[in-house]
Amino acid sequence: MLHGKTALVIGGSRGIGRGICLRLGAEGAEVIVHYHRNRKAADEVRGLLGGKARVVQADIAQPEQIEAMFAQLAGVKLDVLVICAGVWRASPVGGSTVAVMNEIVDTNLKGPFWVLNCASPLLAHGARVINISSVAGRIGVAGGRSLYGATKAAVDALTRNWALELAPRRILVNAISPGYVTTDMTAGHFSDPAVYENARRRHPLGRMGVPEDTAGVVLFLCSEDGGFITGQSINVSGGFVV
Ligand SMILES: NC(=O)c1ccc[n+]([C@@H]2O[C@H](COP(=O)([O-])OP(=O)(O)OC[C@H]3O[C@@H](n4cnc5c(N)ncnc54)[C@H](OP(=O)(O)O)[C@@H]3O)[C@@H](O)[C@H]2O)c1
Repeated sequence: MLHGKTALVIGGSRGIGRGICLRLGAEGAEVIVHYHRNRKAADEVRGLLGGKARVVQADIAQPEQIEAMFAQLAGVKLDVLVICAGVWRASPVGGSTVAVMNEIVDTNLKGPFWVLNCASPLLAHGARVINISSVAGRIGVAGGRSLYGATKAAVDALTRNWALELAPRRILVNAISPGYVTTDMTAGHFSDPAVYENARRRHPLGRMGVPEDTAGVVLFLCSEDGGFITGQSINVSGGFVV
């Protein structure tokens, strides 16, 4: 389905982004796998893609590193851009630090904004841009999640605005909002079996999310059938948040 198309996945080395890289690659796309620190994980994804994928690196909390990465990609035409990289940190009221505040906002909000800003000249007419948001942007949860949730609500706001801004180029911009997904990001939280089981029970469909759930929706948004959808944030949480 994606033969002849090029896809850049920001945060493609692990977790949900890894699943997206593998699915896009399986559908024939040329995948460019981005990573931050974990070169080994990115190389593993490249290996699973048959060794032909390109690998690029940048800390998206550092705008100049994003610019340097896109300088390396000059001349590439992007049909698909998935902005998946992000961090989860607790930010309890009265117990947070400036370092944590900056890390969450710089990575989850400013990072995606600057990625899209730098990617814009490379995006093909009719390209698909997909942000990975979270249902945490839609609900309040006690327990130090305010800033993470705020950055994800902001990603949804970026999505709506970019959709209108890029519509003249027929570029579709959407977000996907997963609920809990079993990845490195949630591994610590779910290392306690009781916490895991409690979270699983709150999923009406009886299981936690896996990266493939999100990857399948990315594929749909890249397809002809997804061709009249823009500016949306699609809840892919198995009924965890409705
Ligand atoms: N897991 C969940 O339950 C869940 C739920 C809803 C939404 N999400 C969102 O889905 C996205 C992916 O989450 P995940 O669970 O797959 O996380 P993960 O397994 O921890 O993977 C994080 C990915 O982001 C990259 N990354 C982290 N910080 C970065 C930085 N400063 N600059 C550039 N890249 C950076 C990592 O690169 P390295 O491998 O090089 O470190 C890795 O590829 C995030 O935006 C997250 O907020 C996750």
